[in-house]
Amino acid sequence: MLSRVNPTQTKAWKALEAHAAATSDRHLRDLFAADPARFDRMHVRLEDLLLFDYAKHRVDETTLDLLAQLFEECGVAEGFRAQLQGAAINETEGRAVLHTALRSSSTEALLVDGQDVRPLIARERERMLAFAEAVRNGDVRSASGEKFKHVVNIGIGGSDLGPRMAVEALKPFAHRGIQLHFVANVDGADLHETLQLVDPARTLFLVASKTFTTQETMANAEAARTWLVQHLGDPGVVADHFAALSTNLAKVEAFGISAERTFGFWDWVGGRYSVWSSIGLPLAIAIGADGFRAFLAGAERIDRHAAEAPFRQNIPWLMAALGIWYRNFMGAATHAVLPYDQYLHRFAAFLQQMDMESNGKYLDRSGQRVTYATGPVVWGEPGTNGQHAFYQLIHQGTELIPSDFIASVVPQHPLHAHHAKLLSNFLAQTESLMMGRPEADSPFRVFEGNRPTSTLLFDALTPEALGALIAMYEHKVFAQGVVWNVFSYDQWGVELGKEMANVVLPELEGDGPIGAHDGSTTALIHHVRTLSSKALNS
Ligand code: F6P
Repeated sequence: MLSRVNPTQTKAWKALEAHAAATSDRHLRDLFAADPARFDRMHVRLEDLLLFDYAKHRVDETTLDLLAQLFEECGVAEGFRAQLQGAAINETEGRAVLHTALRSSSTEALLVDGQDVRPLIARERERMLAFAEAVRNGDVRSASGEKFKHVVNIGIGGSDLGPRMAVEALKPFAHRGIQLHFVANVDGADLHETLQLVDPARTLFLVASKTFTTQETMANAEAARTWLVQHLGDPGVVADHFAALSTNLAKVEAFGISAERTFGFWDWVGGRYSVWSSIGLPLAIAIGADGFRAFLAGAERIDRHAAEAPFRQNIPWLMAALGIWYRNFMGAATHAVLPYDQYLHRFAAFLQQMDMESNGKYLDRSGQRVTYATGPVVWGEPGTNGQHAFYQLIHQGTELIPSDFIASVVPQHPLHAHHAKLLSNFLAQTESLMMGRPEADSPFRVFEGNRPTSTLLFDALTPEALGALIAMYEHKVFAQGVVWNVFSYDQWGVELGKEMANVVLPELEGDGPIGAHDGSTTALIHHVRTLSSKALNS
């Protein structure tokens, strides 16, 4: 179980408050000028994979020692061990949290409710990868005996964002003969527009839903099934053109998808941590079984790193600690993630769910309201596009926005001259955010600097590197959740809106009485009803 330590009651927290007050007017320029070895002490190199530079942060040795002490007092390392060993640390749902087991090569028994889950994981992974290979090489074919050309993943949240982001990120490694599409939104435009792009006779639908009850996914899956049967003229085609990725085998069967076409996972895999499971099938179809195994191996490398590396060399712990420093001691409300990599253009969206659904909580693990800030708003866009949009505010705005800059030394495309330009911007931004420009002919051209950044520089964005990147953020979010004393693996905050939508739906669709709502919502329901019926009758 995780500890119930109120972080503000630790010695480290109080010392960090005093330290923050005493060092608030210090400038990074001066820290660098005073210490030529700063970079040497404040970076981590993982050979053949990446370099993490945290020298451009408003910290010194004392800050880092105190943050390490905070982690100790809050039990981060013990909590991580408990998670890896399958303890039911998701207490409000009574579940273990074992996405790390999905990428583990260990053969040591791992018990959940008395059952060794290693063989289950291996069996399901191999079934899923064999299916992915069969789709790729044409052993699995459509009802008319053709190779599949289109794969449409229907899922939302964790059943969409991870695979969608990863398929985009690893496009250079993908089978170019198969086009992957993703439909998430219950806005019919999403499915409608996607169906314009695909050929029913050569399209495989993957219905991805942990629960197989999510409104958006079921509405899209049912509409896709109707569309397919209409176009191919035979309800029997559903068996050949649909597969399911889910933990709810009974619901999948009721939908009409056979057991052979169902790839399972377990309740101890959180939706936003599920890309390593059968939910990763779209990625496996795109990059093949070997690519998917490399993706898992990259994550496993970080799992070992997080468990073993000392604090000052532990990338996810450092990322987490720096985030806490800015959030709780320097008042930063948001955190920017800025990949200088077009292939990572969905990374911030993916991370928003991972981070904000995990740590966006105001109750601590004892059910008391916290008296300190927890998860920040996470946001970002790829560079250099962001430079021409919101960087003005990062450079000269009134908010402190710690930012992660992510790039690769070697590009996955042949336009090397572009890459030099991209990396020159990448490096220039972190330098100028930090150094600023103290003197200029006009105050408007002065830059204060002292804007903190992390640099995550991959050797190349390979499947292994992407696995590592995701795992680093997963463990960062975990460590922050432990320190903030929140339950990172539940998401009760998404329930109320879903329940209310089920109340409003029949009121919008019918013409009966409208139930008790606030005045604004009642008026809006009337307004929609009136305009919709006019539109329908015109
Ligand atoms: O609405 C939030 C959520 O429960 C996420 O946590 C989850 O990833 C998503 O919905 C989709 O759920 P499912 O995979 O069960 O369809």
